[in-house]
Amino acid sequence: MQLFRQRAATLLRLQCFRIVRSQVSDAGSPSSNLGARGTWAGYSSLAREKDHGRSVIVTGSGRGIGKGIALRLAADGYNVCINDIGANKAACDEVMNEIQGMGRKACTAIADVSKRDEVKQMVRTSVENLGPLSTLIANAGIVQVRPILEVTEKDFEPILNVNVIGVHNCFAEAAKQLISQGNCQPDHPGKLIAAASIVGFKPFAWLPTYSVSKWAVRALSQVYAMELAKHHITVNSYAPGIIGTAMWDKIDAEAGAAAGMAKGELFNKFVTEDTALKIPGTPNDVAKLVSFLASSDSNYVTGQTQIVDGGSIFT
Ligand SMILES: NC(=O)c1ccc[n+]([C@@H]2O[C@H](COP(=O)([O-])OP(=O)(O)OC[C@H]3O[C@@H](n4cnc5c(N)ncnc54)[C@H](O)[C@@H]3O)[C@@H](O)[C@H]2O)c1
Repeated sequence: MQLFRQRAATLLRLQCFRIVRSQVSDAGSPSSNLGARGTWAGYSSLAREKDHGRSVIVTGSGRGIGKGIALRLAADGYNVCINDIGANKAACDEVMNEIQGMGRKACTAIADVSKRDEVKQMVRTSVENLGPLSTLIANAGIVQVRPILEVTEKDFEPILNVNVIGVHNCFAEAAKQLISQGNCQPDHPGKLIAAASIVGFKPFAWLPTYSVSKWAVRALSQVYAMELAKHHITVNSYAPGIIGTAMWDKIDAEAGAAAGMAKGELFNKFVTEDTALKIPGTPNDVAKLVSFLASSDSNYVTGQTQIVDGGSIFT
């Protein structure tokens, strides 16, 4: 027993020595070009930087995933601008009050993201109320259930206007604001983040226009990532799977009915048959990923679309 303990202690010391040596040689290697970012500064350097004092706009945050993201980023320390369409103003104000109750600054900026002028004004409102912009989450989106052979030119319009042009409007106006502020740095990049979807990896046949729009969000994120890197702005997307919100209520009601299914049946079928964890996602599950993408922990991540789906699509 004594011999076993001595051997275990020796092995542990050797392992610690190897870890420290690899960290020192990683940071100091003449072939590495890491500079200050690669220097090992102890375990405290692994802790996430606080987001206190940073400000974020979250579009479509009157309810659902956007609301979950707004509350999580406020908990992380962000001051938050809540956006939605006029019909959801009261819901926006409730989220705003909740965030102010957490000791953060918050404001509401009503805007239809598909209208460039309204988005411009939304960014202005955020800066006036919360100070310089740090991050924008282009979360607002709509869905349309229709078999592909029934889809008309007109059907594409609202979906592309909100889900694609809406993301472009938000990214473009936020990027211009970030560039004009002149405060984005390699170790403090500005952050643009959009809502994609797992259907941006593998379409659902009964969501053709929506699937097309979410593929486009991935492409937009990649183009913006390439274009804005020189301004120290990172651009990424999150791709949720089946998340229990009003949007899925609509999908379940319309696509389920078309397939002759009872209310909730399509939702449950997808969760139990096509999701490894066999549980539906919540807005909080998505908000945790977005919290990472909006934090300093993701400063070296750009141009990516990250899936959060309980194991449905594997990349
Ligand atoms: N729920 C899911 O399973 C799921 C899965 C993948 C991706 N997503 C995406 O996540 C995002 C949020 O989805 P959700 O489930 O919370 O949907 P939701 O319908 O519950 O909420 C979307 C919010 O966006 C707002 N909105 C719609 N059009 C707008 C516009 N033109 N301007 C400003 N706001 C607008 C709505 O009023 C609503 O408050 C969407 O982009 C959606 O496509 C959702």
